[in-house]
Amino acid sequence: MLTDRYDNPISTSSATARDLYVSAVDKLLEGAPGITEAFDAVVAEDPGFVLGRAGLARAHHATGNVAKAREVIGEVRGTANGVTDREAGHIRVFDLLANGKTKEGFAAVVDHVAAHPRDAMVAQTSTSIFGLIGFSGLPGREAEMLAFTSALKPHYGDDWWYLNQYAFALCETGQVDKADTVIDRSLALNPRNSHGAHVRSHIYYEAGETQLGLSYISDWLEDYDRSAVMHGHLSWHAALWALQLGQTDEMWRRVDADVKPGAALGMPINILSDTASILYRAELAGETVAQEKWREVSAYASRFFPEPGLTFIDYHAALAHAMAGDGDALNRIMSGAKGPAADLLRDAAQAFGAIARQDWPEAERLLTSLMAEDARLGGSRAQRDLLEFSLLECLLKQGKSEEARRLLALRRPVLADTHPVKGL
Ligand SMILES: [Fe+2]
Repeated sequence: MLTDRYDNPISTSSATARDLYVSAVDKLLEGAPGITEAFDAVVAEDPGFVLGRAGLARAHHATGNVAKAREVIGEVRGTANGVTDREAGHIRVFDLLANGKTKEGFAAVVDHVAAHPRDAMVAQTSTSIFGLIGFSGLPGREAEMLAFTSALKPHYGDDWWYLNQYAFALCETGQVDKADTVIDRSLALNPRNSHGAHVRSHIYYEAGETQLGLSYISDWLEDYDRSAVMHGHLSWHAALWALQLGQTDEMWRRVDADVKPGAALGMPINILSDTASILYRAELAGETVAQEKWREVSAYASRFFPEPGLTFIDYHAALAHAMAGDGDALNRIMSGAKGPAADLLRDAAQAFGAIARQDWPEAERLLTSLMAEDARLGGSRAQRDLLEFSLLECLLKQGKSEEARRLLALRRPVLADTHPVKGL
């Protein structure tokens, strides 16, 4: 029987289909351009190859086309007969996820990975900050991500994908030095893995390596296709470092070319969160942000995410709506907040509303109340600095500069010298 790159048996007798499948899975794992096209090629080569068809559904989901993912996995579910246990697991997991049943989906992932630990296609759904654990909204999710990836360690050894995910979990739980060593090895094994370059960027950020980070990711992006999934978000990292270095022309060049709606080619979740985030962090740093830019990202949020659903998206949408002055859209998020982190989302949305009307004491009260558990809102530590620095702004506006300095030194000591908020 033929096997995939992780030695799992696969049900195709075509060596060409196998090679195409291995390549397609690698493209998905490394965020390369052409992921869905790669799975299309697998299906064209062997239309009866269940993992190829289930993989196509997952590829659509992972690149932001949930409706197509639902359609494809529905067809697989309805037509696949006599499948193996592992194939049934792929169908079940990708079906649950495409239909938004993330809680049941994660339970299915845990069962599946226990039986098939080297099934990276399924394990992948629950690694990284953008996975099922990262977006769970539950307390302790960063530690859970480290536990999940650590449990896989004996099964993967020196594998670039595994080391990439392990390094991210280490980084986000504060083990930055260890993460640094692990990501070096991952990138040595596969230098063109965009998720590896992403984790390398987070490690530079957490180590306070601003100049090194900007030159690293600028060089790396030179050879990365604009249509690939991570291009916009990696450009956000570059724009953020440019801002930190006071290179505001360079920051705006990146935002306008590769981050904002209408320019970035990536997934709406990144386009919304990255744009709202960089606009507000620019404002905090003292840049003037045209109201038109806020209206643009607010309209984008209303178009692509008309109803609240995923807290990470919703709190960035709330920021955009508040700054754009769209009270109806902001109220929709507050009244429709759902999921395990709905309590924090309501506080964050109200806080942004208070910031927009310059009610600094109220914004301070709301942000303070959520900050102990801000990780439940989702996103990386670098992304959640938006909230950290928003609170500092509220303090500074009330003349509490000593308190702001102490808070930054306490919460984000490595960033204490980066002047993230004007007047600090
Ligand atoms: Fe990131």
